[in-house]
Amino acid sequence: MITDVLTIENLTVTDNAGNRLLQPVSLILPPYRTLGIVGESGSGKSLMTKAILGLLPDTLQAHGRVLFQGKDLLINNKRQWQQTRGKEISLIIQNAMGAFDPLMTLKDQFIETLKYHTCMSRADCFQLACQCLERVSIKQPEQKLGCLPHQLSGGQLQRMMIAMTLALKPALVIADEPTTALDSITQADILHQFKLLAEEQKSTLIFISHDLGMVQHIADDIAVMYQGQMVEHQTTELLWAAPQHRYTRFLLETRARLSSKFNAIMAGE
Ligand SMILES: Nc1ncnc2c1ncn2[C@@H]1O[C@H](COP(=O)(O)OP(=O)(O)O)[C@@H](O)[C@H]1O
Ligand SMILES: [Mg+2]
Repeated sequence: MITDVLTIENLTVTDNAGNRLLQPVSLILPPYRTLGIVGESGSGKSLMTKAILGLLPDTLQAHGRVLFQGKDLLINNKRQWQQTRGKEISLIIQNAMGAFDPLMTLKDQFIETLKYHTCMSRADCFQLACQCLERVSIKQPEQKLGCLPHQLSGGQLQRMMIAMTLALKPALVIADEPTTALDSITQADILHQFKLLAEEQKSTLIFISHDLGMVQHIADDIAVMYQGQMVEHQTTELLWAAPQHRYTRFLLETRARLSSKFNAIMAGE
């Protein structure tokens, strides 16, 4: 029997005053599928991600159940979280620069992360880092690994994060607006890298974006967030053919205008 990677049951987020910032979300994510989550800024996409990964600030509380490969993450202690994050579930964020220590070379950060989660030697970690960088088309990986984060572009750092994910082979990758800070050409390139991650590595992926035009290129299923609520969750084809919620219809109507440049690049025009 194949276990679903993620089962979310009635997940909510409330603040200390009892206000509900995330209305109950339930969904099942089978292995090797890519779920796209779209919704305007402030609709609750990142809150949901943080709730899944135990990253909410102390002022907010998550309720419900988040089963990852059958075990409930919401009851994880600190040590269990350290093992889960990175190795089992990997998070790729919008601002890749913020994910790296500005004072450490990328080589040291790469090796430190790999050593934390595996029992490989430093030399083996370095070799694996170079291989993974080559897989995401970073040229001269040894030289790039010798750099500090600020010496690379946003797109290169985002590829570094994807390379680290390739090395750790987590069962689930969550990418929260991974291309939002990048220009259109780099966006298309990074999206291509995520496709490789999903297809070649057979990762299960949650890809979050405010841009439906981007998500359609990668997602098998799409969930739509609106004002703290998941208002729609369909296969990509069905969402296109028969959108149920008025906000989804609005997204479909405005998609062409918002994403025309990006889509032209994806289409090779
Ligand atoms: N730490 C917090 N404390 C209180 N409210 C928050 C906090 N983080 C986010 N919110 C609120 O929750 C809502 C959803 O935010 P978020 O999930 O970050 O949106 P997005 O869909 O853009 O990722 C917003 O109204 C935001 O103001
Ligand atoms: Mg967000």
